[in-house]
Amino acid sequence: MDAQETQFYNAVLVTAFLIGAILLTFVIVMYRQHKKVKEFFLSKIDAEIKTLENERQRVSSDLHDDLGPILTSIKFRVSSMDLQEGPDKDEMIKALYLLDKGIGQVRTISKNLFPDTLLRKGLVEALNEFLAELRKPEQLTLTLAKTEVPNLSNEKTLHCFRVLQEVIHNTFKHSQAKNFTITLTHNEKSFLIETWDDGIGFEWDQNKPQQGLGMRNLLSRMDILKGQVFLETELKKGTHYLFTIPLNS
Ligand SMILES: Nc1ncnc2c1ncn2[C@@H]1O[C@H](COP(=O)(O)OP(=O)(O)OP(=O)(O)O)[C@@H](O)[C@H]1O
Ligand SMILES: [Mg+2]
Repeated sequence: MDAQETQFYNAVLVTAFLIGAILLTFVIVMYRQHKKVKEFFLSKIDAEIKTLENERQRVSSDLHDDLGPILTSIKFRVSSMDLQEGPDKDEMIKALYLLDKGIGQVRTISKNLFPDTLLRKGLVEALNEFLAELRKPEQLTLTLAKTEVPNLSNEKTLHCFRVLQEVIHNTFKHSQAKNFTITLTHNEKSFLIETWDDGIGFEWDQNKPQQGLGMRNLLSRMDILKGQVFLETELKKGTHYLFTIPLNS
């Protein structure tokens, strides 16, 4: 190889190296940019969800702590009226019945907005309460098969509860399933939430815009938890979710 050829090959090598370096820089810059945009949107969604949850918690405790006692005190006053048998007493009995219903509704709405049991007694207790209060389809058998919940922050516990709430609502609303099972387990690294229904299943494409808000919110919460969602579903073959939530993030 003469000097001219060597010079030519060196030039090709340097040019290839430069192009490679430029391409690599471009890819790194694009990757960082993409990561920044993703983090920006995630923190925006996180802030929106936090505001929403705070507002729910505020309305829930206003209902429970302010309106609840007022209704109870009205009930107490009405029931202590000393009325003779007759139309007035009948009206009073009807009013007491309605008041009881109202007090029950306030409690249910307050709990649905924000289950205080969740922070006092944890995920399993709150889940049991939520399932007990739901009007589930009659033919549906529901099993909470394993309840091994690791230590989670309040924020994580709330996200997990909301995710499960959405899956349960969807199962009740859409699946026509006969059996629905939930397991809560964990290993050293992750909390694992798994659910199965044997209903009609559905077509799912994460990249297609969703009709409902539910699945979108569920995915946002899992993004905030830095968790992963494995969804297995097929028409007529039921629906299986596995949520893995890292414990140390
Ligand atoms: N377990 C399930 N079985 C059958 N279909 C389901 C199931 N879960 C979800 N789907 C389907 O996926 C769609 C999207 O669910 P998504 O929760 O986002 O919306 P939604 O429940 O219709 O409304 P929203 O949650 O906003 O009240 C549902 O409309 C339903 O067709
Ligand atoms: Mg839904």
